[in-house]
Amino acid sequence: MAIERTFSIIKPDATARNLTGKILSMLESAGLRVVAQKRLHMTRAQAEGFYAVHKERPFFGELCAYMTSGPVIVQVLQGDNAIARNREIMGATDPAKAADGTIRKTYGESIERNCVHGSDAPETAAQEIAYFFAQTEITG
Ligand code: RTP
Ligand code: MG
Repeated sequence: MAIERTFSIIKPDATARNLTGKILSMLESAGLRVVAQKRLHMTRAQAEGFYAVHKERPFFGELCAYMTSGPVIVQVLQGDNAIARNREIMGATDPAKAADGTIRKTYGESIERNCVHGSDAPETAAQEIAYFFAQTEITG
């Protein structure tokens, strides 16, 4: 299996409930290594740029409001098959439909307030990592 990097966000609903450590522990237990991490409060422009792919969706405005409602932890995760592995441990977008043992099933509050983001493909992972991190901030 190939060693990959993926981009992850611990979202405002999770930081508000002080779940950073618990979520981090689930990611590490799944075999992912944090190779870059910082806590920040996204501006509206940052959130709109990050989610530009969703700008025609009906939930876009609400999503950007939520993502700027509090601090987030942005991360680069590394490991075997990291993109798919992270999506697996995150679980389905809607916590009600997520598998047992996943982050969203365990801690998610709603389809929007679902604790975590994870890149969905190698191209988006590279793009999303570069959106928040300089190469010099990532060390494996
Ligand atoms: P993500 O991008 O955050 O990893 O999540 P995802 O691929 O599972 O979901 P996606 O379809 O890309 O949606 C991005 C985020 O938008 C919020 N959302 N709200 N109100 C709604 O119907 C709705 N649908 C999605 C969620 O926060 C979702 O993670
Ligand atoms: Mg997505």
